Amino acid sequence: MNRRDFDADIMKEIKERWSPRAFAKTPVDPVDIKGVLEAARYAPSCFNEQPWRFILGDSDPIRGQIFGLLTEKNQRWAKRAPVLILIVAQKLFEQTGKDNPWHAFDSGTAWGFLALEAWRRGLITHGMGGFHKKDASALFDLSEHELPIAVIALGYQGDPKVLDEEQQLKEHPSLRRKASESVLIGWNTEWE
Ligand SMILES: Cc1cc2nc3c(=O)[nH]c(=O)nc-3n(C[C@H](O)[C@H](O)[C@H](O)COP(=O)(O)O)c2cc1C
Repeated sequence: MNRRDFDADIMKEIKERWSPRAFAKTPVDPVDIKGVLEAARYAPSCFNEQPWRFILGDSDPIRGQIFGLLTEKNQRWAKRAPVLILIVAQKLFEQTGKDNPWHAFDSGTAWGFLALEAWRRGLITHGMGGFHKKDASALFDLSEHELPIAVIALGYQGDPKVLDEEQQLKEHPSLRRKASESVLIGWNTEWE
C-alpha cells in the first residue's frame, strides 16, 4: 500500500525510502556497513565540525547492549535487525570548546545521508528515538557533552508477517503534508 504522491521530480532513493519494521535476519555485508558510514561522513556540518559519532552494533556484545536500551515497543520489532547503531552528537565545537548549537541538526543530516545510501544498496533503516538515553550514557561512558540522540536499525527488509498485528498495520510508506504547508513564508502559488 504505497499512496505517496510527488509534486516534483526528485531523487529515486528519496521517493522510495521508508522505514519498515519487518527485518529479515540476513546479516549485512561489512562492505555495505562501511558504505553507509562513508555516506554519513560526507554530510555537511557547521564549520565542518562533523559532530556525529556512531557506536556500531554489528555484532554482540555491542549490538546486544544497544538493543537493551530500546523501549519494549521498539524491541518487539528491532530484535530482528542485524545491525543497531547508536548516534551520539558532540555538543561542543572541537575547535573552541564552546557550545555547538547545530550538533543535533548536523547529526540528523548525517543520518539522512546514511539512510539514503542504505536504500541505494538495497538495505533498509529505521530510526528510533525510543530508547533510554541516561542508560546509554552510563553504558558507553559518555560525557555530559555527548548526547545519545537516536538508534538506527539497519538490515534487509523481511516479511511483514513476522510483526505483531499492531505493527503489521503500520507496515507501509507513510504520507506527507504538502511542501507548501511546510513553507511558512515564500511559497510560489504558481508551483501548484
Ligand atoms: C529521530 C527519529 C526517531 C524515531 N523514533 C521511532 C521510534 O522510537 N520507534 C519507531 O517505530 N519509529 C521511529 N521513527 C520512525 C518514524 O516514525 C518514521 O520515520 C516516520 O513516521 C516517517 O516514516 P518513513 O520513515 O517510513 O517515511 C523515528 C524516526 C526518526 C527520524
